[in-house]
Amino acid sequence: MRILLTGSSGWLGSALEPRLRGLGHEVIGIDPVPSTATHIVGSIADRELVVQTVRDKRIEAIIHSGALHKPNIEHCENTDFVATNVQGTLNLLDAAVACGVDRFVFTSTTSLMISQAIRAGFQGGARKAAWLTEDMSPEPRNIYGVTKLSAEHLCRLYHIQHRLPVVVLRTARFFPEADDMADTIEQSDANTKANELLFRRLTVEDAAEAHAAALEKAPQLGFDIFIVCAPTPFRPDDCAALIADAPSVVTRYFPEFPALYAQRGWTMFSSIDRVYDASRARKRLGFVCKTSFADVLAGLAVEQR
Ligand SMILES: NC(=O)c1ccc[n+]([C@@H]2O[C@H](COP(=O)([O-])OP(=O)(O)OC[C@H]3O[C@@H](n4cnc5c(N)ncnc54)[C@H](O)[C@@H]3O)[C@@H](O)[C@H]2O)c1
Repeated sequence: MRILLTGSSGWLGSALEPRLRGLGHEVIGIDPVPSTATHIVGSIADRELVVQTVRDKRIEAIIHSGALHKPNIEHCENTDFVATNVQGTLNLLDAAVACGVDRFVFTSTTSLMISQAIRAGFQGGARKAAWLTEDMSPEPRNIYGVTKLSAEHLCRLYHIQHRLPVVVLRTARFFPEADDMADTIEQSDANTKANELLFRRLTVEDAAEAHAAALEKAPQLGFDIFIVCAPTPFRPDDCAALIADAPSVVTRYFPEFPALYAQRGWTMFSSIDRVYDASRARKRLGFVCKTSFADVLAGLAVEQR
């Protein structure tokens, strides 16, 4: 397929572009930042450029990963977020419909599901971790979440009005940088990322693979939204214990974890405030992340032999 990939110079774009080419697709990258994966240096907020690109390049599928996101909140205005994340998405959807594009994959974020209340660890007034599925009604807490949720709604609308097949991937974190709360946690970055694989992280390779799976299945699915995250070992009835004493819950599922962590000088978070449940993606998209917390433990066990 001839695929327009937005955000092709970014972290995900750089992993996704070679993966798509490896699958035999022709990839046309668009991004305001130049890179080897970017053929059109420009913005999706430029409506003329978007329509012209989709038409002239005879695009068959769009993977829309370009965005202003959480790290941009500090330096960009709300209006920039609306221009890129909402108007940019609308431009792509309009171009898709006008030019007969066959399928559309939108990279969304689990961040839009985190309200102030969830962040504070209060669920239904009680202190317990939030068990997050696609069925919850999101109340985004910042401009990033608000504009991503608006873009999801546009995707749904264009599916309803124009029958455009669209798959929305609410992706958990896969960024390589240290967490912005890193200063408050006395842990190495590798330790933090390993812990996060239990409930809120995936590798960038898995994120790219999820997009390949969504591209393949979009016409069959019509419209769907999926949380994409490494598979969690936890269950909804762990939520109270996860807030009160996360290490003992993890020990219940992985009895070998305390010794493996201790040898490496690693620690578990004392409390876990949310769990992203990716089981809908497993059931309907047939997609499961390859890398999970169990793989990290297996790696530690090999190191210590
Ligand atoms: N990194 C994460 O942990 C994470 C988690 C959940 C969802 N996401 C989503 O994944 C996608 C990719 O994120 P990433 O981590 O690769 O971020 P990134 O910042 O590395 O890449 C985003 C790319 O989008 C491009 N972009 C910005 N404005 C644009 C515009 N107007 N037109 C076209 N391209 C534009 C940027 O130049 C950048 O290259 C984003 O949609 C983001 O919201 C990321």
